[in-house]
Amino acid sequence: MQNNIYKLTDPQGKISEFPLREGTFGPGTLDIGSLYRDLDVFTFDPGFVSTASCESKVTYIDGDKGVLLYRGYPVEQLAERSSFLEVAYLILYGELPIRSQLDSFVNTIRHHSLVNEAILRFFTGFHYDAHPMAMMAAVVGSLSAFYHDSTDIHNPRHREVFAHRIISKMPTLAAAVYKHGIGQPFVYPKNDLDYCANFLNMLFSVPAEPYQVDSVAAKALDLLFILHADHEQNASTSTVRLAGSSGTNPYAAIAAGIATLWGPAHGGANEAVLNMLREIGDVKNIDKVIAKAKDKNSGFRLMGFGHRVYKNYDPRAKIIRATCHKVLQKLGRDDDPQLELALRLEEIALKDDYFIEKKLYPNVDFYSGIIYRALGIPAHMMTVMFAVARTVGWVAHWQEMIADPHMKIGRPRQLYTGSPKREYLDIGKRK
Ligand code: SDX
Repeated sequence: MQNNIYKLTDPQGKISEFPLREGTFGPGTLDIGSLYRDLDVFTFDPGFVSTASCESKVTYIDGDKGVLLYRGYPVEQLAERSSFLEVAYLILYGELPIRSQLDSFVNTIRHHSLVNEAILRFFTGFHYDAHPMAMMAAVVGSLSAFYHDSTDIHNPRHREVFAHRIISKMPTLAAAVYKHGIGQPFVYPKNDLDYCANFLNMLFSVPAEPYQVDSVAAKALDLLFILHADHEQNASTSTVRLAGSSGTNPYAAIAAGIATLWGPAHGGANEAVLNMLREIGDVKNIDKVIAKAKDKNSGFRLMGFGHRVYKNYDPRAKIIRATCHKVLQKLGRDDDPQLELALRLEEIALKDDYFIEKKLYPNVDFYSGIIYRALGIPAHMMTVMFAVARTVGWVAHWQEMIADPHMKIGRPRQLYTGSPKREYLDIGKRK
C-alpha cells in the first residue's frame, strides 16, 4: 500500500523508499535499514530522541497521555492488585500466571537467593564508604565469573535459569552492599519470607536480636518495585541490550545496566532528589531553587522533574505521591518535613511558565525517595533499590533480544568532524 511508503529524494534527484512499520500503539517507524546503501548517508540523532532502536512486546509508554503498560496491562491496575513477583512473571513470560505457575515461580526465586560465599569476600576490598552503586556494579558483574561456563545464551533454559538467579540474588547482594557500608554482618536470605520481606530482613535485621519485618513496609517496597520494574528503552535497558548484542555474559550485561542507571540523569535521580530536598531545607528557599533550575548557566536541574518521554505527569509518580501520605502515616513517619517540602516544590514548579512550557512534571524519582527514607533506606542506597527492581526489565529485554533470530550486534555510525588526513611528524619537527 503506497501510503505506507515514505520517499526521500537526494540532491541529485535519486528517490529512496522507506516502508512505515506500525506497532500496536504509538508512532510508526520508518525502516531506514537501506538508507546508507541507497543514499550513502546516515541519520543523525544524538540521544536517540527520534530513533526506535528495536521492536519490543514488553512495555508501552504514551508520554503525552501519561500511560504505562506492562505487556498491555496498565501499571495502575498492577500496582493496585498485583505483586512484584507476579509482575516479574508477567514481564518475563508475557502473560499473567495462573496460580500453579506463580507458586512455582515464587518458589524458584526463593531458592536461588544465596550467592557463592567467595562473592561476599569481595566486599573486604571496598572501603566502608564506597558508593553502593559502585559496589553493586562490581559484585553483580562478578557473577559472570561464577556462571560463565554454565551459561549458553542460545539455550532458552539457560536464559531462564539466568533470569531466576539474577532476580533472586539482587536483594542478597544489595543488602550485603548496605551491610558492608555500616559495618554490620551480612544477613542471609530466609526462604520462608516473601521477596520484599526477605530483602528488608537482610537489610535491617542483626544477629544480636530478633527482627520482625513490618508488613506495611514490605507492601510499600513491593509497590515501589512494581513501579520500577520496566520502562521500555530507557538508557540502562538500552545499555543492557547493546552490551548483550555482542553475546557477552548476561551478568556482565546487567552490570553495564547498573553502571548506566547510576547516573543522576537516570536512576541516580532518586538519591539526587533527597540531597536536593535536604539542601533546600525550607519552603522559603524554593523560589531560589526554581530560579536556579530555570537559569541555563547554573547547570542545575530540578532533580526528579522532566522526562524524555513523559510530557505529562509520570503515572508512576502519581501513584507514589498518592501512596506517600498513607505509607508514612502507617509507618509513623508522617511528620517527614521533606514530604511537605516536595509537595510545595511540585506545587510551585507546576505553576511556573518555564516548567509548563517545557512540560516538566515530577517523574518516578521525585517521590520514591520519600518512601524509601521512611523505610529506613539511606539516600545513597536508593538507586540500588531501583536496580533491584529494574533487573526484571533488563532481563526481559535481554531475553527478547537474544531470542530474536534476526538479532545483530549494535554498532551505530557517526558524523566525523575531526581532522583531515595528515602525515606523522617526528617529534623534533613539531612546533
Ligand atoms: C528516569 O528514560 C526513562 O524511562 C528513565 C526512567 C526509567 O524508568 O527508566 O523513567 C527513570 O531516569 C527518570 C528521570 C530521572 N532524572 C531526573 O529527574 C534528572 C532531572 N531531569 C533531567 O535531567 C531531564 O529532564 C531528563 C534527563 C530526565 C530528560 O532529559 P531530555 O529528554 O534530554 O530533555 P532535555 O535535557 O532536552 O530538556 C528539555 C528542556 C531543556 O531546556 P532547553 O534546552 O529546551 O531550553 O527542559 C529543560 C532542559 O534544560 N529541563 C529541565 C529539567 N529537565 C529538562 N530544566 C530544569 N530542571 C529539569 N529537571
